[in-house]
Amino acid sequence: MNEDENLDEISIDINVSKPSELDEFKQLWDEAAEICNANSNQPSFEGYVSADYRAVYESLVILQGHASTFLEWGSGLGVVSIMASRMGFEAYGIESQSELVEYARLLSRAYQSNAKFAAGDFVPDDFEWNPAKGHAASRSVVDAEAGYAELDKKLADFDLIYAFPRPEEHALFESIVKDCGRPGSLLLSYDADEGINLVRIKPDP
Ligand SMILES: C[S@@+](CC[C@H](N)C(=O)[O-])C[C@H]1O[C@@H](n2cnc3c(N)ncnc32)[C@H](O)[C@@H]1O
Repeated sequence: MNEDENLDEISIDINVSKPSELDEFKQLWDEAAEICNANSNQPSFEGYVSADYRAVYESLVILQGHASTFLEWGSGLGVVSIMASRMGFEAYGIESQSELVEYARLLSRAYQSNAKFAAGDFVPDDFEWNPAKGHAASRSVVDAEAGYAELDKKLADFDLIYAFPRPEEHALFESIVKDCGRPGSLLLSYDADEGINLVRIKPDP
């Protein structure tokens, strides 16, 4: 309590990475890398490439307090969803490869996260593909049911969506969030060349 009448006390929420949390996450990153190396010949791991977890973690630190519900598109081994859950987000992941979803659930339990995972397509059923809007053929087109029903959620329930698109998929991913997400929601993406990008879907005027 500040007793100087010339000074107002201001409450600010400064998020800094916690060393103990980071140490634990580094173990998670190593464990995921080991699983990946051991399975590199498996067809289910063919489309799996891990993001720069440190960069994504640092983005989540900044976004703590600005979003509550979190969805990872193409959650792979679940590392980002697990970190998000441990950091206080209500976290979910959708991944088309059920074998990866099983690994994600194992890691989630091992790292005491509440993240929930579904096997399926992250593209919602109600998204309308339109090449005129730049929805070019994408390698993220999968032969699976959308994963939202298994989570009992819809895309519009999420404040923050995280994805690791291929360079040619950024516009498509933004369109999906624009068309089916909630106005005001955030799309955080990682790109091997461009690094981290964050866009907010414009709220309705
Ligand atoms: C580049 S990896 C990213 C893994 C993790 N999200 C990360 O950032 O480290 C992309 C993942 O998305 C999955 N995937 C691709 N298209 C998908 C789709 N339409 N629905 C669900 N998962 C998909 C792939 O199987 C792969 O595991």
